[in-house]
Amino acid sequence: MERIVISLGGSILVPGDDDGRYLRDLAGLLREVSADTKVFVVTGGGRIARYYIETGRTLGLGERALDEFGIAATRLNARLLAAALRGLANREPATTYSEATNLAQRNRIVVMGGTRPGHTTDRVSASLARVVKAARIVNATSVDGVYTADPKRDPSARRLDRMTFEDLVRLAGEGHRAAGPSVVFDPVAARVLARDRTPLAVVHGRDLTALRHAVLGLPFHGTLVSD
Ligand code: UTP
Repeated sequence: MERIVISLGGSILVPGDDDGRYLRDLAGLLREVSADTKVFVVTGGGRIARYYIETGRTLGLGERALDEFGIAATRLNARLLAAALRGLANREPATTYSEATNLAQRNRIVVMGGTRPGHTTDRVSASLARVVKAARIVNATSVDGVYTADPKRDPSARRLDRMTFEDLVRLAGEGHRAAGPSVVFDPVAARVLARDRTPLAVVHGRDLTALRHAVLGLPFHGTLVSD
């Protein structure tokens, strides 16, 4: 059975915009595609993580402690998704790749959050894709693809339908510096994908048609990173 990793941004899962309904619809989609595809979902922390990281930083906590709060938030989000999926996914998020692999034998869908300080869930997704030999990664985020510049700031930014791994690595830039939100795709994760040549589909996670098509390997609205 084909294996797919979905990196589900926290910005999509818990933005505070009818999230319960979105989770129900998303669970329906995942139920459908998991009938003949093994689905691994890595959930981001979003504003839940940001709240704890910002508050902890005000308290003077170090980066490592802040990352631990971020990881806890990603796992909380994974539990929320597992709850929406009812019996189809593991209730306790996987904390290691081998645990995720084992859970895949008993669950149609495997959910997991962060792993270790200094990472992001994009990076977890890239490493997981390598371990489970995923056919592709779908990055469900809050923009409908990769743009030439930040579309929220630069009106002349253009969306790219396709790009190479090398373009992605160049665009992602430097490594993880501090706890908190990142842009485009985690740079270390981008390098992992480039090394493994694992195709990456970047879609707007709230566009369930785009998400569904990307997961199924059909043409989709977004950006395809491949050879
Ligand atoms: P995210 O992966 O959600 O980071 O993890 P992000 O950059 O905010 O991504 P988006 O915006 O949701 O796509 C939230 C925070 O949790 C910590 C980091 O501090 C990260 O910024 N974290 C997460 C880790 O330290 N290790 C992990 O494996 C995952």
